[in-house]
Amino acid sequence: MTLHRKTARGVQGLFITFEGGEGAGKSTQIARLAEHLRADGDDVLATREPGGSPGAEALRHVILSGSVEPFGPAMEALLFAAARNDHVEQVMRPALRSGRMVLCDRYIDSSRVYQGVTGDLDPDLMRAIERAAINGLMPDLTIILDLPAEVGLQRANARRGAGAADRFEKETIEMHARRRDAYLAIAAEEPERCKIIAADRPAGEIAREIAVLVDQLKVDRGMKARRAAEVFK
Ligand code: TYD
Repeated sequence: MTLHRKTARGVQGLFITFEGGEGAGKSTQIARLAEHLRADGDDVLATREPGGSPGAEALRHVILSGSVEPFGPAMEALLFAAARNDHVEQVMRPALRSGRMVLCDRYIDSSRVYQGVTGDLDPDLMRAIERAAINGLMPDLTIILDLPAEVGLQRANARRGAGAADRFEKETIEMHARRRDAYLAIAAEEPERCKIIAADRPAGEIAREIAVLVDQLKVDRGMKARRAAEVFK
């Protein structure tokens, strides 16, 4: 079993979020990291946003169907935040408190980028909404899978095949490029939390790089990381 750090909040697992545009390979990399951590004896919860709890999954359908779009980006931001708060309080915070490793596909940075930057929302409003949504639950590490907008769109289109694009996938290449820049800007502002990983490479190579980062973080936090000991000796 993994040795967990004791904090003022009790026994805590690590909270790792994955971010990036469409087609960046987030779900593949979450599955690979989950496998890596489980092989090291960790109890892993892989989850996603919007969704991850029954209440948030119900909101996911409403948001991604596009039926809220007419109300504008501020109302969409509120719904994402409501879904996030349910996911945080019902699922992720309890999991972390019981020492589980939580891997989440999208989190606050998706709202900062999709609603805040490309939705042109007031930064003060966005900060206030974020505070209410997460109530202090910041990620220990955020992996930003970085890809040129055209490559990500091509991948997302290939994956979708003949299926319909969702509300956010229908938008233009310029929008995707703005989002990429916005993610890079967040990483520049919060270099301790956010690590940029070039995603236009073989999945195995990316997975190894992420595993090394996470193993090092475990060591830094006083957790046992068998593989890190092997990698870093
Ligand atoms: P999803 O099908 O999960 O997309 P992906 O595979 O790209 O993660 O759909 C989630 C969509 O919702 C995605 O286009 C990004 C968007 N989104 C926001 O706009 N704000 C948010 O806070 C979150 C979590 C997602």
